[in-house]
Amino acid sequence: MSIRVVRVAVERTLALRQAVLRPLLRPENLLHPWDSLPTTAHFGAFVENELVGVATFVESSRTGSVREWRLRGMAAAPEFRGRGIGRALIDAGRAFVAGSGGSAIWCHGRESARQFYEKLGFVVCSDRFEDPVSGLHFVMESTLF
Ligand SMILES: CC(C)(COP(=O)(O)OP(=O)(O)OC[C@H]1O[C@@H](n2cnc3c(N)ncnc32)[C@H](O)[C@@H]1OP(=O)(O)O)[C@@H](O)C(=O)NCCC(=O)NCCS
Repeated sequence: MSIRVVRVAVERTLALRQAVLRPLLRPENLLHPWDSLPTTAHFGAFVENELVGVATFVESSRTGSVREWRLRGMAAAPEFRGRGIGRALIDAGRAFVAGSGGSAIWCHGRESARQFYEKLGFVVCSDRFEDPVSGLHFVMESTLF
């Protein structure tokens, strides 16, 4: 299966964000102020011409001392999971963040996705915490250098 990852407009990410991550919200309610910042990048993963995964990288320094990007809205279509979509999106984000002068990517990783992130080199760097909307999470981070 050939996966193509390219930058997309935020509007392209909304349907998958909604279906996978926020099924109780409407897609138009999943646009956030950080989505349109000039340092934000949205990526879409395509199989043939079908959009099957999305991820957004938002500049946000967790430590306050270096430039870092936060991964948000990471979602793969259920029928395409386990076939490298998530990995391809993270690889694209790493290249983008490194090229933008960032030294790390971090996220609030759902407990259910912890092993996915660990396989891609992220480490847990917080206690487990509960988001009232989306459940149990860890802060997870991957340094680039
Ligand atoms: C998490 C998610 C994005 C992973 O996408 P994916 O396309 O299935 O991931 P990949 O196929 O690239 O997986 C990369 C590796 O992680 C593993 N993996 C993927 N999801 C996993 C999970 N939930 N638990 C354990 N391992 C997982 C894969 O088996 C693969 O391992 P391998 O390299 O040994 O073959 C996808 O499952 C998803 O959209 N989940 C629902 C939304 C979600 O939880 N998003 C993250 C919110 S923080």
